[in-house]
Amino acid sequence: MCDTDARLEGKVIVVTGGSSGIGFETAKNLAKRGARVVIASRNETKLKLARDNIKEATGNSDVYYRLLDLGSLKSVRNFASETLSYEKRLDVLINNAGSVGLPDTLTADGLNLTMQVNYFGSFLLTFLLLPMLKSSAPSRIINSSASSMYIGHLDFDHWNDIGRYNFITALANSKLAETLFTAELDRRLKGTGVTANSFDPFVVKDTDILINAPEAIKEVSKFFINLVGLKKEEVGQQIAYIAAEPTLEEESGQHFKFCRKWLNHWLVSDTDLTKKLWEASKAAVNISNEEDWESSER
Ligand SMILES: NC(=O)c1ccc[n+]([C@@H]2O[C@H](COP(=O)([O-])OP(=O)(O)OC[C@H]3O[C@@H](n4cnc5c(N)ncnc54)[C@H](OP(=O)(O)O)[C@@H]3O)[C@@H](O)[C@H]2O)c1
Repeated sequence: MCDTDARLEGKVIVVTGGSSGIGFETAKNLAKRGARVVIASRNETKLKLARDNIKEATGNSDVYYRLLDLGSLKSVRNFASETLSYEKRLDVLINNAGSVGLPDTLTADGLNLTMQVNYFGSFLLTFLLLPMLKSSAPSRIINSSASSMYIGHLDFDHWNDIGRYNFITALANSKLAETLFTAELDRRLKGTGVTANSFDPFVVKDTDILINAPEAIKEVSKFFINLVGLKKEEVGQQIAYIAAEPTLEEESGQHFKFCRKWLNHWLVSDTDLTKKLWEASKAAVNISNEEDWESSER
């Protein structure tokens, strides 16, 4: 399953959350295929170690790290401008980083922390990198979703509220937003050569995703994950397949799971909702006139 002998020499790929778990395995798989890979997350010690491990395991020295905190719009803007300055092109953006069980609090940007880490941060990053993705076309965007999206709900008047959502609902809302954003991206990118697909890893063994979850949830989840979970290497290969497989070059607006096109959320076809999500997200992350490349396309 998900086997491809695609090579990626000359391609530049950004993997958020590439310092551990699924993102690390994805980055390693892509580096093995010859891509220039940039991994991005918050902890520099983890990033350095991950970069060195990837280089050693693949023999590819074209592997880099850059700091990125999706919970800070300033950090996302810094990361995007570094990418625009240091990279000549961007062939694949993999919005993989995410978190579960974060405190129910507002960020310095006034947004719900879980929503910002799992959705607004990658919305802003993608928006800022889209001109580069377009000029590098054919190019691909892959957004990490999760089965929790099916119980998510988007209420634009309350999506950043504190004290309203438990950590599972907050996660579900953020993953629903990421999936509907992918659908809207797909529609907006028609004819540009840039594709946008979402990906559900299912349940994955031996990652750090439960690090912030309450102890009781950790114990129950660990049992379930060990019983049915997939190996992280296998899931990394699934994402690498979507990123690299030549026959998927024009595949867009799909939701992938178990390496197949999977049943997407029913709301992806509600274009009024996904358009509203796009505009509300631009407002939430304060897209400036200078950043708003859409205004010059109108
Ligand atoms: N594991 C599963 O069973 C499962 C199931 C469904 C969906 N997913 C999704 O798959 C993705 C990867 O999860 P994983 O299991 O590989 O988890 P993981 O091992 O915890 O890896 C998460 C990665 O994201 C980074 N990250 C966390 N918060 C960040 C932030 N604020 N800014 C930038 N980077 C941040 C982490 O690095 P730092 O902490 O150093 O920043 C790490 O590199 C997530 O989006 C998750 O929701 C996982």
